[in-house]
Amino acid sequence: MKGNRIIGTGMGVPSRIVTNDDLSKIVDTTDEWIVSRTGIRERRIAADNEATSDFSAWAAIEAMKMADVQPEEIDLIIVATLSPDRLLPSTACLVQGKIGAKNAFCFDLEAACSGFVYGLAVANGMMPDQGVRTALVIGAETLSRVLDWTDRNTCVLFADGGGAAILRHEGGDNGILSSYMKSDGSAPPPWLAVTPGVSDLSPLGDKVSKDFAITMEGKEVFKFGVRALPDAVKGALNNTDGLTLADVDWIIPHQANLRIIDAAAKALDIPREKFIVNLEKYGNTSAGTIPIALDEAHRDGRIKKGDIVALAGFGAGLTWGGMILRW
Ligand code: COA
Repeated sequence: MKGNRIIGTGMGVPSRIVTNDDLSKIVDTTDEWIVSRTGIRERRIAADNEATSDFSAWAAIEAMKMADVQPEEIDLIIVATLSPDRLLPSTACLVQGKIGAKNAFCFDLEAACSGFVYGLAVANGMMPDQGVRTALVIGAETLSRVLDWTDRNTCVLFADGGGAAILRHEGGDNGILSSYMKSDGSAPPPWLAVTPGVSDLSPLGDKVSKDFAITMEGKEVFKFGVRALPDAVKGALNNTDGLTLADVDWIIPHQANLRIIDAAAKALDIPREKFIVNLEKYGNTSAGTIPIALDEAHRDGRIKKGDIVALAGFGAGLTWGGMILRW
């Protein structure tokens, strides 16, 4: 479906900044190690009374302001998250309540760090056939609550916050041009997982905290990311009417690791300056990274009307996916 355009973006992150030096006081690590292996310098971590629906609602309010959209105009809310406030009700419904979008129907979507791209693609597919003219798509996380704060392999990488986009059916040539989504459920879950679930292994029987945490095989995920990012961009380009890499003005990659982004730039043979990167300030907020980077680059004027923008996500599942937009 063509003619669905992002008319507003926003972001919502906790105000508490945690630096690499702060982390070196709780696990055996250094600022030098974290910066050289990942590019991350600091991240935002939620206060005790903040949760995913809060970052989502803050981001949504900013996006609605930019788009000059009233809450009642929103027909659909999708929150992509792996760290919902609760299993029930959905975070999307909580956001609906917080922003007063009383005419929307709402659901969560779980595709890990690819969630925002998947969410935009799902919303795009529902417009305008399902009566959706204006959709609010959010990617947001509170990963600090699913981290083992004694595991230096993971706790230095992940963080909290999210971003939002208002998608509107306007017709015309601008907006989402294509999407491309892939999954591979054959990858062993230990590569990147939160082990206890509900129907599989309930966290409720035993002590939750340490066991209810992200575990990861860093090297395998790294290699996957280096393959998945270029594939996401190329796959989405292949689904357009003839656009090529040379037409792309900006790539907004999932912000997991600077070295993965550098490797993707090399593999695609695209100048690194075309990649929008802000992971040094926010770390890996999973479904939140792409909409946060999109909002920053849109607000500061880097992304201009008519630009060809590629979004590219990858994460647990495995999942990966890309999207091409004409801004
Ligand atoms: N501080 C200091 N040392 C650390 C550390 C930390 N925070 N985390 C791990 N180390 C240690 C390891 O224990 C290992 O020590 P050992 O050799 O004594 O066992 C050593 O550093 C080297 O680890 P290695 O795994 O070879 O480092 P790496 O170059 O692969 O970098 C990651 C590790 C996690 C940064 C990297 O694999 C990565 O980014 N993977 C992708 C993760 C990701 O992006 N996940 C989310 C995807 S959506």
